[in-house]
Amino acid sequence: MKNQPKKIAVLTSGGDAPGMNAALRAVVRASVFYGIECFAIHQGYQGLIDNEFELMNARSVNNIINKGGTIIKSARCLEFRTPEGRKKAYNNIKNGGIEALVVIGGDGSFTGAMIFQNEFNFPVIGIPGTIDNDIYGTRYTLGYDTAINTVVEAIDKIRDTASSHNRLFFVEVMGRDAGHIALNSGIGAGAEEILIPEENLGLERLLESLKKSEKSGKSSSIVVIAEGDKTGKNVFEIASYVEKNLPYYEVRVSVLGHMQRGGAPSCFDRVLASRMGVFAIESIIEGKSNSMVGVIDDKMVLTPLKKAIKGKSKINTNLIKVSDILSI
Ligand code: F6P
Repeated sequence: MKNQPKKIAVLTSGGDAPGMNAALRAVVRASVFYGIECFAIHQGYQGLIDNEFELMNARSVNNIINKGGTIIKSARCLEFRTPEGRKKAYNNIKNGGIEALVVIGGDGSFTGAMIFQNEFNFPVIGIPGTIDNDIYGTRYTLGYDTAINTVVEAIDKIRDTASSHNRLFFVEVMGRDAGHIALNSGIGAGAEEILIPEENLGLERLLESLKKSEKSGKSSSIVVIAEGDKTGKNVFEIASYVEKNLPYYEVRVSVLGHMQRGGAPSCFDRVLASRMGVFAIESIIEGKSNSMVGVIDDKMVLTPLKKAIKGKSKINTNLIKVSDILSI
């Protein structure tokens, strides 16, 4: 083992995601296992600037593998975007004797990590934590699996009331600019149509498809819309456009919102978080830096932060075809 550091720090940043606590637990326990002191930084990068460090031990992370959110809190920190903010953060980290940093977050958090690494040549390793699954260099991000299961559960419930009242529901899901949540949860919940930013279906095709559904004898339908959909209209506008053009449909809208980010992580996310946390610490011990851990073909891999931020996480286009075939 090269460069074994004596002290490292870990923080969670950006939008929280189920599995962040499980990743924190893995980072802390793997550190202790390898004889490294691990400090948790509270409130993401803000805690780095405000010197909010807490020395952790194996017991500090008891009973959190099953908890949603992040016990060390998260924030989107504007001050860290300034050179002055980052300098303060660096001074604190140096004074604390910290030799490497683990950042659990999404692409915004990794951009901050990369700039920090470049400015101070300070070792940084990222763990992708976001429900959006929109990060290049990993097949799955932490929280995504839990989020799609939460969405499917919610749409199952919406389907009960939709079918009881013969209604057409438009359900908006999160995902920022990516359609992974919409596409996968839409298929999982048996949606009639799925609108994602990666494929502009267009409103006319949506009308045609809904007309066909009605003619084929469907009395209720679910359309899942990704929040980043590029139709040019929001979910309420799309719903009223459809209602105007297809008056035989009684239309309702449901925006699932932040409930998609909460809840206990799925077993998949807990295992992924555990693997990523251990791999992050082993990578630091190996002297790796400026990279993000990920899982591809069930193997743990490292991707340079720059690539992880710039690269595109691609939609599985085969799923679009599957959805089209099954929604007849
Ligand atoms: O990136 C996670 C995410 O939940 C996105 O899906 C969503 O667009 C965004 O964060 C919402 O951010 P906020 O919680 O700051 O409103």
